[in-house]
Amino acid sequence: MSGKGETVSGIVGYVGKKDSLQLLFDGLTRLEYRGYDSSGIAFKNGSGIEVYKTPGSLKDLQKMLPTPLPIITIGIGHTRWATHGAPSTANAHPHTVKGVSVVHNGIIENYRELRTELEAAGHVFSSQTDTEVVPQLIARYLDRGLPIDEAIQHAVAHLRGAYALGIIHEGTPETLFAVCNNSPLVIGIGADAQYLASDVPALLPYTRNFIHLEDGHMAVLRSSGVDLKHVDSREPLPLEGKIVTNNWTPAMAEKQGYDHFMLKEIYEQPQGVMDTLREWLDDTNRLMDEMGISGTIRDLRRLHIAACGTSYHAGLVGRYMIEKFVHLPVAVDIASEFRDMSPIIPKGTVLITITQSGETADTLAAQRVAKENGARTLTICNVVGSTTTREADSVLYTRAGLEIGVVSTKAFTAQLAALSLLGIALGAKKGKISDLEIRTLKPFLLDLPGLIRQALQTDEKVREIAKTLAGAKSMLYVGRGINYPVALEGALKMKELAYIHADGYPAGEIKHGPIALIEEGVPVVFLATIDGLHERILSNIEDVRARGGRIIVVTDSPAAFRNKADDMIVVPATHPALVPFVTIVPLQLLAYHVAVIKGCNVDQPRNLSKSITVEDKCHNTGCSYSRFCRTSIACAAITPDEKKSIAHKVVRLLHLSNWEQMSAASLLESSGQELGKAVHQEQASKGLSTCFVSPY
Ligand code: G6P
Repeated sequence: MSGKGETVSGIVGYVGKKDSLQLLFDGLTRLEYRGYDSSGIAFKNGSGIEVYKTPGSLKDLQKMLPTPLPIITIGIGHTRWATHGAPSTANAHPHTVKGVSVVHNGIIENYRELRTELEAAGHVFSSQTDTEVVPQLIARYLDRGLPIDEAIQHAVAHLRGAYALGIIHEGTPETLFAVCNNSPLVIGIGADAQYLASDVPALLPYTRNFIHLEDGHMAVLRSSGVDLKHVDSREPLPLEGKIVTNNWTPAMAEKQGYDHFMLKEIYEQPQGVMDTLREWLDDTNRLMDEMGISGTIRDLRRLHIAACGTSYHAGLVGRYMIEKFVHLPVAVDIASEFRDMSPIIPKGTVLITITQSGETADTLAAQRVAKENGARTLTICNVVGSTTTREADSVLYTRAGLEIGVVSTKAFTAQLAALSLLGIALGAKKGKISDLEIRTLKPFLLDLPGLIRQALQTDEKVREIAKTLAGAKSMLYVGRGINYPVALEGALKMKELAYIHADGYPAGEIKHGPIALIEEGVPVVFLATIDGLHERILSNIEDVRARGGRIIVVTDSPAAFRNKADDMIVVPATHPALVPFVTIVPLQLLAYHVAVIKGCNVDQPRNLSKSITVEDKCHNTGCSYSRFCRTSIACAAITPDEKKSIAHKVVRLLHLSNWEQMSAASLLESSGQELGKAVHQEQASKGLSTCFVSPY
C-alpha cells in the first residue's frame, strides 16, 4: 500500500544485454488485470526506434509485432486506460517525437497551456493526449542542444499533475529514463538487466529487488545498474536503503496486498477524489466554458439528474450540494423511471446523467429521451470514450481509475467530487456563491483526501462491529439531510455484498412505518453528524432504543452521542455540504467485513453485474424501446459496427476469464451466438444466475 496514486494504465520497461521483445509483452500481460483500452510497445532496433500501437487488446498488438519476436536491448511498453482522448492508435502510448519515445501514467494537469505554447512555437501534435506534451518538450530541449538527461529534467520542470514516465531516446540507445510524481513507478534490479514498471507484478518473474521511485527523483537505468538523482540536479543520490525485497506472489500483487479488489478500491478513494477535484478546482470558470454552459447560464432554470444504483445515490447527494451552492431546483430520478414516466422537461433544463461505466442501458435511455425533448445533456462519467460521453453534449469526467469490484465504492466518492465541483462552478457563474465563499470552501475540498484517509482508520473498529452483524436478518440505515442518501448507499452496500436485507430511511420517516420493524437486537445505523439536525437524530435514537434496537452511530461528535449508542464510529468533521465523503467510508467497510465474515463473494456478488448494458426486454423486433435500444446485440436495428463495439464492451466489462481465446471479433461470428454462449458459461462457472439477459 504505497501512499501514491493508484494508476490504471500500465508501464513496463527493459534495458539489458539481450532479451526477446517477449519480455516486454509478458510484462504488459501481467498488468492486464488492471484493465486497459489500448496498448503499445517501442524498442530500439539497429537504426532507430520501432513503435507498434493499437486501440485493441494485447492479442491485437501481438499480431502486429514482427515474427519471430526480435532480440532487444532496450524498450518500453504501455497499456492505456484512456483519460484524455478516446482510445485510438494515435492516442495509444508510447508517444514518439524526434526519436524520443515516452510512456506515461497519470494526468498532466497543465497540458493545455503547454500544448498551446508548443503549437505556437511550431510543434505539430499527432494525438489528443495530455502525454504528448512530454516528448514534445524533451524534443524542444534536445533541439536547443541539451543532452537527453538534461532535456528530460528541463521538460519535467514544466509539468504539473501526476506522472510516471518511462523514456527512451534513439540517440542514447543504452539508457532508459524514469521520473515520477504522485504516480507510482518501480525499478526492478537485475544482475545485467534493469526493469521498470508501474506495478510490481509486471516484474516478479525477473527480480524480487525493487526501488520504489520517489516523487521528484529521476532514475537512469543501464544494463549495468541504476543511478538516481533529483530531477532538478546533476548530483547522484545514494542507493543505500532504497532497494527493498518483495515476496509477493503474483496473485497477491495484483491486489497490492489487499484481500479483495473492493477493499483496495475503498482505500483508493483519497486518490480518486483528489484526481477528480484537481483537474478543475482552480478553474471552475473554464469548467463552465468547456461544459458549454457559460453562454446559456441565464437560461438555466432547472437541473434534472438521472442515474442507477450507486450513481443514483451520488445524484441524491449532488442535489443537496447543488441546491445549496446554486439555489436552483434539482430533480433526481432513477434513470429507468425517468425514461418510463414521460418526464416533463421544461425549457432551460440540463439533464445530468451520472454513470461509472457510461454504458448503463437505462441511464443512456434517459439521456436520449432528454435530448429528444430538447434538454441539454451533461454526463458525469468515469470511462473515457464510453457511450454516454459520446452522446452527451458535455462531459465531466470522474478520475476514480478502473473499478474492478462489481460493487461500486471509489466511483461514488469521485462522483461526489465531480458534483461538488459542478455545484461550485454553477453557483459562481450564476452569482449565487461569492468569491469569499469559494475561497472558504476550497481548503475543505483539498482536505478531503486526508479526511477520507482518517475515516479509513475506522477499519479495525468497523471490523469488530461487523462480527456482531453477520447473523442479522434485517438492518436499517438512518440519516437526515445530506446524510439520508448516504444511508441509502450504506444499505445498498449491505444488500449487495452481505445479502442482508437493509433499508435506508430519512430519520424523520422512521416513525411513519419502519419503527414497526424494530425489536430486540435489530441493528440500526444512524448517521449523526453535527449539523443542526443532530438534536432530532437524538430523539430518533431514543425511539429505537426504547424498542430494543441495536444502535450503531457514525458521528463526527462523539461527545454528543456518548451513552446513546451500542457502538460508535467516529469520523472526522468537515464542511456540512461535504459530510458524505467521510460518512460513507465506514459503511462501505462495514458491508465489506460482514460479507467477508459470511464468506460471500466480495468482488463478484451473486446475481449482480458491473454494468447492466443490456435490457431484459430488448429482444429483436419485440424491442420495447421506441426506435430500438441499439444497446443489445439482439436489437434488430443494430449496425455491425455497433454490434462489434458492444461485443468489445461485454468482453471487457464481464471480465470473461477465457476472453483471451475469444477476441471480440470471433465472438461476433454467427451473429453474436458465441458471445451469448460465452457470457452464459462464464456466469454458470461463477454460480451466478443469468443476470445478463441474452436471447441465445
Ligand atoms: C450496476 C452495478 C452498480 C452500479 C449501477 C450503475 O447495478 O452493480 O454498482 O452502481 O450498475 O452503474 P453505472 O456504471 O451507470 O454507474
